[in-house]
Amino acid sequence: MTQALRIALAGLGTVGGGVLKLLAENAALIERRAGRAIEVVAISARDRTRDRGIDLSGYEWVDDSASLARLDNVDAVVELIGGSDGPALTLARAAFNQGKSLVTGNKAMLAHHGLELAEAAEKANVALKYEAAVAGGIPVIKGLREGAAANVIEHVYGVLNGTCNFILTTMEATGRDFADILSEAQSLGYAEKPDPSIDIDGVDAAHKLSILASLAFGAQVDFDAVQITGIRHVIAADIAEAAALGFRVRLVGFGEADSHGLFQRVHPCLVPEGHPLAHVTGSLNAVVVEGNHVGRLLFQGRGAGEGPTASAVVADLIDIARGEYGPAFGMPVKSLTKLHTAPAGERRGRAYLRFTVADRPGVLAELTAAMRDAGVSIESLIQRGATADGSVLLVMVTHEGPERSVAHALEKLEGSPSLLGAPMLMYILEN
Ligand SMILES: NC(=O)c1ccc[n+]([C@@H]2O[C@H](COP(=O)([O-])OP(=O)(O)OC[C@H]3O[C@@H](n4cnc5c(N)ncnc54)[C@H](OP(=O)(O)O)[C@@H]3O)[C@@H](O)[C@H]2O)c1
Repeated sequence: MTQALRIALAGLGTVGGGVLKLLAENAALIERRAGRAIEVVAISARDRTRDRGIDLSGYEWVDDSASLARLDNVDAVVELIGGSDGPALTLARAAFNQGKSLVTGNKAMLAHHGLELAEAAEKANVALKYEAAVAGGIPVIKGLREGAAANVIEHVYGVLNGTCNFILTTMEATGRDFADILSEAQSLGYAEKPDPSIDIDGVDAAHKLSILASLAFGAQVDFDAVQITGIRHVIAADIAEAAALGFRVRLVGFGEADSHGLFQRVHPCLVPEGHPLAHVTGSLNAVVVEGNHVGRLLFQGRGAGEGPTASAVVADLIDIARGEYGPAFGMPVKSLTKLHTAPAGERRGRAYLRFTVADRPGVLAELTAAMRDAGVSIESLIQRGATADGSVLLVMVTHEGPERSVAHALEKLEGSPSLLGAPMLMYILEN
């Protein structure tokens, strides 16, 4: 009988608790698939006395999570604490120092320290696995690293944050405004309380995008190069106007690498009704990968929650139990290139612009003149009647053109007394 893979687990919250339950419930099947049992020997969390609804008496409790890595009877470490630095990073480093494989769901840590950790894992000849870190239960890391490995990846993009997608698609279904749905999302546990900013300001999606882009394009993880705009400023009228034009609004993380360099952006986008991302609703996630031989792949499913995330963590453990390690970012660290950042202005596309303007003559002429002077060609322009506060909504869709031109037009309009608020810009994703 092959010896069990003995693991230590740090973090017993939503995901860590889910891992313990899954390993217990599916133990026999996991053993058959992995070729040996996966046995939890030691655990750690912040508060030993907390009732977690799980019997923990069979596991060795360790107060200092980093010392889990130093236990002689532990073969691999699972980090489910979270946070880019602090105890999670200390534990990850300790695991590789001790020559032990690491499984983590921690996108923040990988976005900031992924390269260092991949290097340490490689040096120690052990695995760094992180399927749960991007899109929870969806096997997109495996899909990119293994399934699509033969392809030049042209684009990788998707709906990477369930909180934002829940808010946007609930706004879409109900016509209600952002703030209202955000508090509903918080009471349902879909958004963090009291501070949901990591999700709604696009940072969590950007963490995931930077990891996907590294894998897809063979590039060093470069989180600082991601341009990030969240969904705070999307209003109900944007969603209604987008629908009238045949689009849905989604927060899209988009990555592309070409002769200009690596382009990574998280931004609210208009997605055509016929596009697969338009059908991703509620807290679901989806990732589109476009490869030069395979064509378009769509990965969709639950991007968060106890069961889906634990499923991804345990899949990684099964790989480790089988001895399937593989390089963390799809190729040895020395082969990952440091791509420079592609300037957004070089990109071409259509844009949606919404202006809240004063209800007086000459305003429309001022806006269209700014567009003309910047070389932006207008495809459609809709003006809605004055609202109770006397403001008017103007919605513009541009023809395809350089993003630089739209940016110039908006710069020209900055500070104009005709504008009663900041304009809303959303890029249009084509089918
Ligand atoms: N939740 C999801 O759906 C999801 C999805 C994908 C990825 N992830 C990632 O998975 C990781 C865990 O997320 P989660 O939702 O399970 O978080 P969580 O529910 O907040 O749980 C965090 C756990 O870490 C423990 N912890 C905190 N500080 C610690 C320390 N210094 N030493 C040891 N343990 C410590 C906490 O202990 P106490 O319980 O004693 O406070 C808690 O058990 C994060 O990186 C997250 O980004 C989560």
